[in-house]
Amino acid sequence: MTLTAKSVARVTLVSALLTAVAGAAIIGASPASGAASTLGAAAQQSGRYFGTAVAAGKLGDSTYTGILNREFDMVTAENEMKMDATEPNQGQFSYGNADRIVNQARNQGKRVRGHALAWHSQQPGWMQNMSGSSLRNAMLNHVTQVATYYRGKIYAWDVVNEAFADGSSGGRRDSNLQRTGNDWIEAAFRAARSADPGAKLCYNDYNTDNWSHAKTQGVYRMVQDFKSRGVPIDCVGFQAHFNSGNPVPSNYHTTLQNFAALGVDVQITELDIEGSGSTQAQQYQGVTQACLAVARCTGITVWGIRDTDSWRASGTPLLFDGSGNKKAAYTSVLNVLNSGTNPGPTSTTTSSNPGGGGCTATYSEGEKWSDRFNGNVTVSGTDNWIVTVTVSSPQRIIATWNTSATWDSANVMTARPNGNGNTFGFTIQHGGNWNWPSVSCRVG
Ligand code: XIL
Repeated sequence: MTLTAKSVARVTLVSALLTAVAGAAIIGASPASGAASTLGAAAQQSGRYFGTAVAAGKLGDSTYTGILNREFDMVTAENEMKMDATEPNQGQFSYGNADRIVNQARNQGKRVRGHALAWHSQQPGWMQNMSGSSLRNAMLNHVTQVATYYRGKIYAWDVVNEAFADGSSGGRRDSNLQRTGNDWIEAAFRAARSADPGAKLCYNDYNTDNWSHAKTQGVYRMVQDFKSRGVPIDCVGFQAHFNSGNPVPSNYHTTLQNFAALGVDVQITELDIEGSGSTQAQQYQGVTQACLAVARCTGITVWGIRDTDSWRASGTPLLFDGSGNKKAAYTSVLNVLNSGTNPGPTSTTTSSNPGGGGCTATYSEGEKWSDRFNGNVTVSGTDNWIVTVTVSSPQRIIATWNTSATWDSANVMTARPNGNGNTFGFTIQHGGNWNWPSVSCRVG
């Protein structure tokens, strides 16, 4: 915070509402610096990354590679590190296409997410027909071999992908791997940790975005169990493939926050949102805000570069159009990453004395951080003002200055002069909601 010494002295911490967490955030967080012009650079301002899936076969396309090199600082191989690609025949490993992606990324100073060591899908033919201990051993050998080969080059591995069932069961998906025993997932994580102790180890899945869904709860319980028993897990990946049948949930921030509270990083690993125009842009904005609002959300990866590169190309779900032009969704993501905010409803740029209270209160934006923002209110028309400031859930005012404040409810603060003039301010911990507060003035 860049408060002057004088104003620091006047900051009044609102003790009733100041939780230990909020206090730590105020002290520990650093402000975002000025605007960056690429997704990766903008994400780095808050210590995050912004990645994309890459297909080895497209690296010769100069438009594709130009956008890749310019915009992204994390790379995931779209298919080239999967089991069928890296071990096409049992015991015979093949890394050519994966290496092209890894080398291209690393030569450009980008990091790599590894995807994926063990999965029921995209298994090589020889594995599909295996079962029992021979399959278990083949899977563990695969994990060990591939993670060892890439040791030191991978930021995070999706060790296990998509192991939970859709629908209301909240349990595991049936698969040949699951039939080797319920402990196959933790066995895979342990093998990956031994092979590459420096990589973060993630569980990755889809339809785990909505906190109230059974599948989300099932994965949550597994991670909780792993953490309690010391199974080596560092992160949870949320694929985040959205469309009208599977929209961005309004509780996304809650989901990410609750997983993070288990002591793991969370990452949005395969983001795409079908749609177009401002609707799509708003949904991308919401997902980006949800990540920024969670300290342990370490980054976002989109599942391809141009709409035409997408596995769901007909849904135009990405940030660049088929010609490589930036879409509205791109701009909304960049803006959120840059400011740690969106502009909020500009219709509330100022609000005043709707009831004719004899004075005017004007709100103006202050500094913004990933978890909170400052606002200032300037009053004209009287020195004896009473200003009501109303924030919207889940926002909380966690600090005030140059005013004497009382509380009508957790969301409604009444501010009066405290001898420091007619401009006062406050810090709002936003919880992902960047809307401006409403302010109104009356004469005291
Ligand atoms: C998809 C790829 O994008 C396609 O090219 C391929 O044909 C199928 O797999 N969940 C995952 C990704 O974890 O690996 C999938 O990628 C998309 C769904």
